[in-house]
Amino acid sequence: MCGIFGYVGNKPARKILIDGLRTLEYRGYDSAGIFTPRGGVIQAVGPIAALEECLLVDDSSVAGIAHTRWATHGAPTLANAHPHHDATESIWIVHNGIIENYQELKEELAADGVTFYSDTDTEVLAKLIGRQRADTLQAAVVVALARVRGTYGLVAMHVDRPDELIVARMGSPIVLGVGSGEHFVSSDPAALLPHTKTVLYLEDGEVAVVSASACNISTLDGVHRQKATETIVGEAAQLQKQGFAHFMLKEIHEAPEVIENAIRGRLMAEEGTVKLGGIEPYLEVFSKLDRLTIVGCGSAYYAGLVGKYLLEEYAGLPVEVELASEYRYKRNYHLGNTAVLAVSQSGETADTLAAVRKAKAAGILTLGIVNVVGSSVARETDAGIYTHAGPEVAVASTKAFLSQITVFALLAILLGRQRQLSAENGKELIQALTELPQSIQKTLALSSYIAEIAKKYAHTRNMMFIGRTFHAPLAYEGALKLKEVSYLHAEGYAGGELKHGSIAMLDAEFPIVTLVPQDAVYEKMLANISEVQARSAPVIAIGTEGDTLLPKTVDDVILVPKVHEMLQPIISAIPLQLLAYHVGVAKGLNVDRPRNLAKSVTVE
Ligand code: G6P
Repeated sequence: MCGIFGYVGNKPARKILIDGLRTLEYRGYDSAGIFTPRGGVIQAVGPIAALEECLLVDDSSVAGIAHTRWATHGAPTLANAHPHHDATESIWIVHNGIIENYQELKEELAADGVTFYSDTDTEVLAKLIGRQRADTLQAAVVVALARVRGTYGLVAMHVDRPDELIVARMGSPIVLGVGSGEHFVSSDPAALLPHTKTVLYLEDGEVAVVSASACNISTLDGVHRQKATETIVGEAAQLQKQGFAHFMLKEIHEAPEVIENAIRGRLMAEEGTVKLGGIEPYLEVFSKLDRLTIVGCGSAYYAGLVGKYLLEEYAGLPVEVELASEYRYKRNYHLGNTAVLAVSQSGETADTLAAVRKAKAAGILTLGIVNVVGSSVARETDAGIYTHAGPEVAVASTKAFLSQITVFALLAILLGRQRQLSAENGKELIQALTELPQSIQKTLALSSYIAEIAKKYAHTRNMMFIGRTFHAPLAYEGALKLKEVSYLHAEGYAGGELKHGSIAMLDAEFPIVTLVPQDAVYEKMLANISEVQARSAPVIAIGTEGDTLLPKTVDDVILVPKVHEMLQPIISAIPLQLLAYHVGVAKGLNVDRPRNLAKSVTVE
């Protein structure tokens, strides 16, 4: 949450800063602001676009800092917009994170006569830095940070040193981009792609003095850190809509390529197994695992629930799935040989990262299924599997969710072959995975048909989603997707749970989306459909091609290709994503940037 971008180099800074913010906008869009030494501060409430007119004003600054905000402390107003400054307006900072003891610090500063213009914790930090008697800004930042409890990704600059940025990190992501005669600072490596692929990751407790030509990193207690640069992958073009009306639609349509990228080089067709380089050193450990705990938030948590069904069914491995935000605060029992597997698109979700750290501190093996290469979860887990879905820009996760389930399918095959899955069954699954992108392509062709169904139901106030076994988590995810992008009240249930309460809500005004592939629980789902029809609820069914009964039974039917039972949830996710997208569009909403949300939740 909150995106920060900084630049120091040899080019006009403003455009670079605003372009950087555009890529980071998914992290929050309550307000935006930039500061350059010659142009001063420019802020606006709302999305980045509101800042763009500042590009018309001449500003020869070749350095500056920028911020896009997801409000935590204080409403999304101009006064609360970053950058914030100290009492003399010499020091300007942008900050991502939360200063937990800001009230205490604020009272202390106020007792000293300091006045405040905003409700933010960041202004308190700016004022605190400004109060330090230190020779350099770096020294002032370090002394001030020693007083701070909480999290920060921070970039500061002093008007007297317009050629230098001070950058610090504790718990919020920061990556430095190395260009030729220029350096960049960003919350996310993707925003660096238009400029450079050479990066330095800042670790918690590190501070960097960044100029056009140098980047000196040390720990907060002054120990110099020599770091090797790393190379990031991806193309700047991936950050464009490429002809699609929205990023969400583009990302849903990337599904075939996303699956191909997730399985590329990993299938061993002859042996009927898979090769996952990142976790290879632990194969022996995996063969002895008694159970696995999966942690994640939002869609990643639901992908974890699908993962549980896959791992239990195909690998015979007992799995529990925990919300990372619960796992981190509760007592957890890890019996026998166990591991914690974190699922995260961004790799920066604060609760997921905290869960990983908790497991590590308890001496438990930690693994990750992560999209963003080099992200905190990827770096802090003992081993992991990248999903390689490419940058996901729309706030609501679509392609990343599919890639996570695909990786779970790979893991289920790998662990299954160690335990109970025959080579023959393994080969069958590998073959099914190879054919999956084609079936996805066919499913995507249903987009305009689904748009018509969406229009029909867009003005309902409630919607329910049900599914069973592999498709129960899909029902939860379908409801979440709809809530996120259309603000409709939606609930997802396992089909069997319906009668234990929620059926009470159903009537002719309460449509229900049913996930009804022709699998082992098909008839149970048909029984659920009869029950809800008896309460006059309109039924939309997502079934599989060749089903002649379903179209006769329900109000609206979407038939998708039938694939191997293990992979059917991946296909079923697509009509759910398209339905949510088209309902959001039919309601005239900004589906890429839903209100109140941010893609990467780096606060707790
Ligand atoms: C936010 C996003 C969701 C995402 C969740 C977990 O709430 O809006 O789309 O599923 O965070 O994010 P992660 O990056 O850890 O997968």
